[in-house]
Amino acid sequence: MASAGDPPAGPRDAADQNFDYMFKLLLIGNSSVGKTSFLFRYADDSFTPAFVSTVGIDFKVKTVYRHDKRIKLQIWDTAGQERYRTITTAYYRGAMGFLLMYDISNQESFAAVQDWATQIKTYSWDNAQVILVGNKCDLEDERVVPTEDGQRLADDLGFEFFEASAKENINVKQVFERLVDVICEKMNESLEPSSSPGSNGKGPTVGDTPAPQPSSCSC
Ligand code: GTP
Ligand code: MG
Repeated sequence: MASAGDPPAGPRDAADQNFDYMFKLLLIGNSSVGKTSFLFRYADDSFTPAFVSTVGIDFKVKTVYRHDKRIKLQIWDTAGQERYRTITTAYYRGAMGFLLMYDISNQESFAAVQDWATQIKTYSWDNAQVILVGNKCDLEDERVVPTEDGQRLADDLGFEFFEASAKENINVKQVFERLVDVICEKMNESLEPSSSPGSNGKGPTVGDTPAPQPSSCSC
């Protein structure tokens, strides 16, 4: 487990200094919604049905190419269990993006989204970008949270919204790519408010940002 103040050492990728930007991202949400599974699917393309609840906080590093820029993602996977809340909220500061996750087959995890959003407001930067993710959309038979309810809540909170499945690999890459894109867009807005995006080659070029993926999965 990584601890506060640790450099992002460990994974081979972590020592690589050859990047244009580094984005710190956080996965938050109730225990068992699938945060760790989501990260493992994205970073390692693996999935395990066994539930090993995260203790405290962990991270993975992944480098992606977006808009001709090499972007190193430092992705922190937080424990959903209440008893780790003091540790995990300490990591909100400096995060540029959040994936706030619930489980579409678990009403309680959806009801908790508002509280998680409040935690973000309380502990993170004002301009941190947030995507609401309804995970486990492969469990259609067990669905208790309609897609429209997720979309409405996301609209109310000012977040983008996706349904996804770490198990079936639905919308996992798309969610991370969209989060990177909205962070790039925000960066461009604040760094170059008067120039066209990417016109001087200094910022990420977002003019060719692809349209967002459909917010709900096809399963
Ligand atoms: P904490 O670490 O306690 O906060 O939980 P977590 O949010 O990291 O949950 P985790 O990724 O450990 O997943 C919990 C359980 O849900 C595991 O048994 C996973 O296999 C399962 N799971 C995760 N994602 C999916 C999914 O997309 N579909 C299905 N059917 N199961 C999933
Ligand atoms: Mg976990």
